Amino acid sequence: MARVAIVTGGTRGIGAAISIALQAQGRTVVANYAGNDAKAQAFADETGIAVARFDVGDHQAVLDGVAAIVAAHGPVDIVVNNAGITRDAVLHKMSFDDWNEVMRINLGGCFNLAKATFPGMRERGWGRIVNIGSINGQAGQYGQVNYAAAKSGIHGFTKALAQEGAKFGVTVNAIAPGYIDTDMVAAVPAPVLEKIVAKIPVGRLGQAEEIARGVAFLTSEEGGFVTGSTMSINGGQHMY
Ligand code: CAA
Repeated sequence: MARVAIVTGGTRGIGAAISIALQAQGRTVVANYAGNDAKAQAFADETGIAVARFDVGDHQAVLDGVAAIVAAHGPVDIVVNNAGITRDAVLHKMSFDDWNEVMRINLGGCFNLAKATFPGMRERGWGRIVNIGSINGQAGQYGQVNYAAAKSGIHGFTKALAQEGAKFGVTVNAIAPGYIDTDMVAAVPAPVLEKIVAKIPVGRLGQAEEIARGVAFLTSEEGGFVTGSTMSINGGQHMY
């Protein structure tokens, strides 16, 4: 039977490319989304991928959402924690809400999904968790103390949980994307983005599919010896 994969934020941007790549690998994919029913339904109609609405930052909603997925599709063997938001502002203009929402969703989401799925993976002796970090969690970014802290936290979370999963056949890895051609990056003011792209040695933004290929490798059957690692896919912008 096909292994079941959940991709959070899986109907748009990098997440949509990941859902499609895992489906192409023969997984039964459920793409989670937070609010945009119309876009999610369009994605489901186009790809045949099931969609599930819940807020990854809401602990109980995640437990209930995952329980419904298990009831419909079977145990979850693969989780890709991709859902994330930005609330960019320099610190002196950043509100506590800007800080808290980014921590709650970007970092809290990883904990919530892991709580709902890791114990089962551990019991069954096989699992794959991939957390989507960011170049900005590795290098920092002006105007992103919230996002950089959450993404940096994801890298620590990954290495800690990898140690807990290793002897149970559960790998936990991170991917740190650079600037990828998505709505999130399109929201960066054009003059700022131009300066950022000028610093990317490969000379362009990345494509969502270039991140998805990394996820497909890390979640593959053959990926069992790779754990606790961070794969940087950033066009050479930060060599780490
Ligand atoms: N380094 C140094 N100085 C910078 C800077 C930078 N990267 N960015 C802006 N500044 C400076 C400006 O030059 C300006 O200086 P002066 O006042 O001396 O002219 C000052 O900061 C204020 O800049 P803004 O006018 O832009 O101020 P603002 O308050 O309107 O906006 C900001 C500040 C929110 C940080 C805005 O510049 C911005 O959105 N920057 C982009 C941040 C970014 O890269 N976000 C990534 C989003 S994509 C993502 O996160 C995905 C991923 O994982 C990669």
